[in-house]
Amino acid sequence: NTEADAILVERDGRVAILRLNRPKALNALNNSVMRAMAAAIAALDTDTGVGVIVITGSDKAFAAGADIKEMADRSAVEMAMSDWFSGWDAVARCRTPLIAAVSGFALGGGCELAMMCDIIIASETAKFGQPEIKLGVIPGMGGSQRLTRAIGKYKAMDLILTGRLIDAGEADRVGLVSRVVQQARFWDDVMTTARMIAGFGKPSVIAAKETANRALEVSLAEGLLFERRVFHALFATEDQKEGMNAFVAKRPAEFRHR
Ligand code: CAA
Repeated sequence: NTEADAILVERDGRVAILRLNRPKALNALNNSVMRAMAAAIAALDTDTGVGVIVITGSDKAFAAGADIKEMADRSAVEMAMSDWFSGWDAVARCRTPLIAAVSGFALGGGCELAMMCDIIIASETAKFGQPEIKLGVIPGMGGSQRLTRAIGKYKAMDLILTGRLIDAGEADRVGLVSRVVQQARFWDDVMTTARMIAGFGKPSVIAAKETANRALEVSLAEGLLFERRVFHALFATEDQKEGMNAFVAKRPAEFRHR
């Protein structure tokens, strides 16, 4: 399919849903998908009407990896000159919370795309893996770094060096997913979670995401200082006054920035 329909963009109130749409190729991530995803995220991220972005695939596959057929015959120079995969940085740069809703295969670039998100909700049918070693390469969309940070060196090495797939239960035990949900309740759970986060004040939601992500970049002392400063700064927002006053008055908060 063409770039225009490589992903489907849906809206449900303040929740935007980006659905990978190459079912016959198990949503393999080619350049069209990458460009469409980067453009959609850039537009949605600056839309004040969007509180959460959900990235999902089909029942059978979230995404079975980068498109092997598109890459197979490339030279090292072509890969380097085009900075292959760099378009995906737009996903990692997104300030709006991203939920990966994973049903079926999330392999290679699919697992790496899920790990660019802030919350990973897995259906019990989900299967994760970094099978690039079987293709004579290594993860190239962040897997060697994000997987190691997410689950630790020894669990990550097990997956990266053997290329074996793990099911949703094992992914949950090692801390690769936020939660696992029965297939029948999966989409309800994803949307309930997305709507809940999208209902909070966006300044504090962005601050929460930014601050938690600092933990992966800086020392504890620097991270704690960053957190304290951001916490204090949020007292300049109307949403802080509303949130706290609503609690005291025993009424639901009506956040302005949502
Ligand atoms: N790239 C291109 N096409 C893919 C693909 C991929 N990553 N994964 C699946 N497809 C295609 C298959 O070629 C097949 O197409 P045809 O019908 O034209 O033959 C179609 O999707 C259906 O796939 P299968 O017939 O293989 O389905 P299956 O149910 O028998 O197996 C699977 C499913 C185990 C996921 C298997 O498709 C598979 O192993 N896929 C490749 C997984 C992989 O190696 N991913 C890593 C890619 S490299 C990468 O991601 C680099 C990086 O770090 C970013």
